[in-house]
Amino acid sequence: MAFVSDDLFNDICMANDIVDYASSFMTVKKSGKNYMACCPFHNEKTPSFSIDRDKQLFHCFGCGASGNFVQLVMRLEGLDYKDAVRQLAERANITIPETGVRELNAVTEKKELILEMNKIAARFFYDSLIDPKIGMEARRYFTSRKLSKETIIKFGLGYAPNSVDALLNLLKSRGYKEKDIVDAGLAVMRNGKAIDKYRNRVIFPIINVRGKVIGFGGRVMGSNELADGTKIAKYLNSPQTLVYDKSSNVFALNIAKNSNEKSLILCEGYMDVISVHQAGITNCVATLGTALTEQQTKLLNRYCNEVLICYDMDEAGTKAALRAIDMISSAGGKSRVIRITGAKDPDEYISKYGVSGFRTAIEKAMPSTAFKLSLIRQKYDIADTDGKIQFVDEAAMCLATLNNPVEVEAYIKKTASETGISERAISAKYIEHKSKVKKPRPDRTKEEYKRREVNRLNSEKPKSERVGATVIDAERKLLSIISKSRRLCIRASELIEPEEFSNSIYTTLATRMYDCVKNGDTIDEAIILNEFSGNTDAENTAAAVFFNNEEYSDSDKTLYDLIYTIKLNKIEIKINSATDAGEIFDLIKQKNTLADERKKWQNIKSEGK
Ligand code: UTP
Ligand code: MN
Repeated sequence: MAFVSDDLFNDICMANDIVDYASSFMTVKKSGKNYMACCPFHNEKTPSFSIDRDKQLFHCFGCGASGNFVQLVMRLEGLDYKDAVRQLAERANITIPETGVRELNAVTEKKELILEMNKIAARFFYDSLIDPKIGMEARRYFTSRKLSKETIIKFGLGYAPNSVDALLNLLKSRGYKEKDIVDAGLAVMRNGKAIDKYRNRVIFPIINVRGKVIGFGGRVMGSNELADGTKIAKYLNSPQTLVYDKSSNVFALNIAKNSNEKSLILCEGYMDVISVHQAGITNCVATLGTALTEQQTKLLNRYCNEVLICYDMDEAGTKAALRAIDMISSAGGKSRVIRITGAKDPDEYISKYGVSGFRTAIEKAMPSTAFKLSLIRQKYDIADTDGKIQFVDEAAMCLATLNNPVEVEAYIKKTASETGISERAISAKYIEHKSKVKKPRPDRTKEEYKRREVNRLNSEKPKSERVGATVIDAERKLLSIISKSRRLCIRASELIEPEEFSNSIYTTLATRMYDCVKNGDTIDEAIILNEFSGNTDAENTAAAVFFNNEEYSDSDKTLYDLIYTIKLNKIEIKINSATDAGEIFDLIKQKNTLADERKKWQNIKSEGK
């Protein structure tokens, strides 16, 4: 996995500060030697997420999420290893020499390949669009949608010619294999033959926050209803590929993140976003044809203080807006709703009411709770007593989902003055509903996380060799002790082989630490952990070793006890699965020898400091 040398890796990590970095994602407080925060990887109210600033490592004592600085960046920002290293390098203004790019693993290589092909495809679509002959109809279409040349360039819009193999042939001529072109989502198999996926469609490239073309949306020009009444897909989108996932990306965030606004305007369609940007409002983004997902919500909350939801005003759009409000608030963000009354979508609204009309709509964006209450209000006739009662009941139910008492009180007041029902009566209803609001699913306990880890570590072994939590615990403690002391590490290397540990992660850790002390190197936890980058479970298990805070009054004795426990357990497992009497007899003999050895270990102390 080496992408940069260990030295450069160290420089990059050290030039940044993990606490400083983490602080932009969570509230970090100093606590003793370490820093603590509420874990971003599981739900919790009391902090168990610990950051070791010196070692630049993190560990959650609740869910077990654990790793080095780069692994934290990978998880918080959804980046792969290389991009996370690059990200930190950029933060510290360190240039990674191109010669440092070595030994990419197969997946990373394939991702790069797809990104390359996407870039070529985007360029090809753009060139086709501006080609006087080929792109004529497409240009005419964009003009009919009132898009300027600047807008087309800014979004890199294009046109896929009406051909089954124009792009395929171009990519093949550049040396790309048909299989890879299909895997990139640029071609599809039809009757056993690869053909261009996008044909005779205008193209909207989808670009991630790092500026890479990760996928495409292709729209039919004009109506998607054919002359004979049959309908075809209005948009064809990239399938899920190694670089594209429609549920974790957001359209135009690459541009919107550079606007100076504190908010992001969230629309439903590509065309909406493009129109809004063309109107000079550059903090606008859209989902990619799906309802807002949790990952997208997190991404949005990361880049803004408030999301201004700007969905179509029809029933589907309203429903989607309500859902988005709840998603955003559960993820800890704020939202308001831009209402575009009198037009079906923001694009049409701008055509009809102009930029100034749209700006006014933004200024008048409605607080989400007011929006929800106004929808409830529309359902009832409050001039009628029954209607009034039902309205108050449902409004109180809506308020019961809020967490801010000041907001609750303000809306109770408002509802009271609207209906003439007393604040006291509405409060009583509110309290009644509040007690019914379902509490979020209780957090998985630490023990459950532990149990899962034990199961996972065992899953690589045949049934007869599976170990219990006690052994894994002992092994973890042992590795922790030797990571802190050269002398004890050398001693352990004399007594227990890396292969005697019960899982491959611990075996790797022991091997690496033994090697370090033998070569006279210091044990660098962060570097060792790099070995596991990309495998979250392995990162967690490995890094947890370095977060053992237990102090041992006699660490030598503890070391021997642990080694004894581990070795003894190995023998006992064998005894349990042995069927042959001779074999069992042998094993019992081994057990006795081990007990004798245990006594000897303590008496002979090894050389070294
Ligand atoms: P819209 O139908 O509102 O599209 O769908 P739009 O972007 O406003 O396009 P115009 O104005 O009709 O040209 C909203 C979004 O849903 C996804 C696309 O991401 C689109 O931008 N969608 C829609 C699809 O993926 N496939 C479809 O067939 C339709
Ligand atoms: Mn539209």
